[in-house]
Amino acid sequence: MATRFDPVGPLRGSMRPPADKSISHRAALIGAMAEGETTIENYLDSADTRSTLAAVAACGARVEGPGADDVEGRVRVRGVGLRGADPATIDVGNAGTLLRLLPGWLAGQPRGRWTLDGDDSIRRRPVDRIAEPLTLMGANLSCREGRLPPLEIEAAPLRGIEYELPIASAQVKSCLLFAGLLGDGATWVGEALRSRDHTERMLAAAGASVAWLRGGVEVLPARHLELESMAVPADFSSAAFFLVGALLVPGSEVSLEEVGVNPTRTGLLRVLERMGAEIEVEPVGERGGEPVATIRARACELRGTEVGGAEIPLAIDELPLVALAACFAEGTTTIGDAEELRRKESDRVASTCEALTALGGTVEPREDGMSIEGSGGLRGGTVHSHGDHRIAMLAAIAGRASAEGVEVEGMDAARVSYPRFEADLASPSGS
Ligand code: S3P
Repeated sequence: MATRFDPVGPLRGSMRPPADKSISHRAALIGAMAEGETTIENYLDSADTRSTLAAVAACGARVEGPGADDVEGRVRVRGVGLRGADPATIDVGNAGTLLRLLPGWLAGQPRGRWTLDGDDSIRRRPVDRIAEPLTLMGANLSCREGRLPPLEIEAAPLRGIEYELPIASAQVKSCLLFAGLLGDGATWVGEALRSRDHTERMLAAAGASVAWLRGGVEVLPARHLELESMAVPADFSSAAFFLVGALLVPGSEVSLEEVGVNPTRTGLLRVLERMGAEIEVEPVGERGGEPVATIRARACELRGTEVGGAEIPLAIDELPLVALAACFAEGTTTIGDAEELRRKESDRVASTCEALTALGGTVEPREDGMSIEGSGGLRGGTVHSHGDHRIAMLAAIAGRASAEGVEVEGMDAARVSYPRFEADLASPSGS
């Protein structure tokens, strides 16, 4: 069934976007590895982050919530300790982050076997990127065709390694840092291009020894972790839909509250500023060791830009939104060095180009990105989400900004990261 999004006027008002998905996953996982109880405030209640709670429960952690003590978003996790995971068969659903992070912890357990599997999309997501370095650490893993889930893990003693990431990936880095906690010596993960650092921040808060040195992150083996409490900021990647929507729909002005603005996540802001966007970021302190701000944006004229290099990992999940904004800008926009986009919940080079072209945009795919000719707007039409939450929400925002409206097939994919997206977009203030 298709869902329609019409150009019904400006997006106006203030809102707090849902909790950060990346940070929620990590809080549940590190809570499970910790001793004692961790209270997580503002845990994201979505399909992906529910998969993580179910996974840690399968490994023996006791989970209450979301909604523990009847407080919305509160989750309590009683950990099993760093070396206490129970053997289990785990369904990761659609959650790529869970698929890549959890094996780092499980591979170094003193005993046990685990199987990780998920939905059709997850079965196309590569796991060789974690299997190869984990194997160098001594892990005992196998996967389908050497690179795809299901992933089988058998507990093994791990050694510390030095590993330079061949691709910028916070998921791979995080997996190796978890494994490094269980190694026999220091583990160093080099990243030529920096990726999101939520894992490093949270492990340090839980008492692990984590340091940035020689262009990478070093973690030392740990006896135990203790997190106690964690507060999750609003998700910049979810806020980004309303941010870009506000720039594109004439007359819009939105204020996005309590949004995490960790600089390893906010590359989109730099890109949009170069395009001429008027965005105000007012810092309001810290939540769970992460900087938080109010972000205000209003409709304005945009111009094309070039996006590539070190900026890509800092804006990886927002690149489809850059392409949407580029359709409304004057001139050409190019996105390069972004081959990783092809390995997300869908091939996002293909799915973004297909969606924007169907709506009247002039978008050309490239091996490592795309180029977009600004045409001052989009006509409208029909988009298939391909089961990808970010493509579904991209198309909905495009509908609000389009001349004739957009029908989205597969809008339910948004539940993966932002279950109340349609309600937030449809609220009386329009935001
Ligand atoms: C994520 C890291 C990114 C991102 C994904 C979430 C994370 O993936 O695309 O949505 O939580 O670590 P990669 O770091 O593998 O590119």
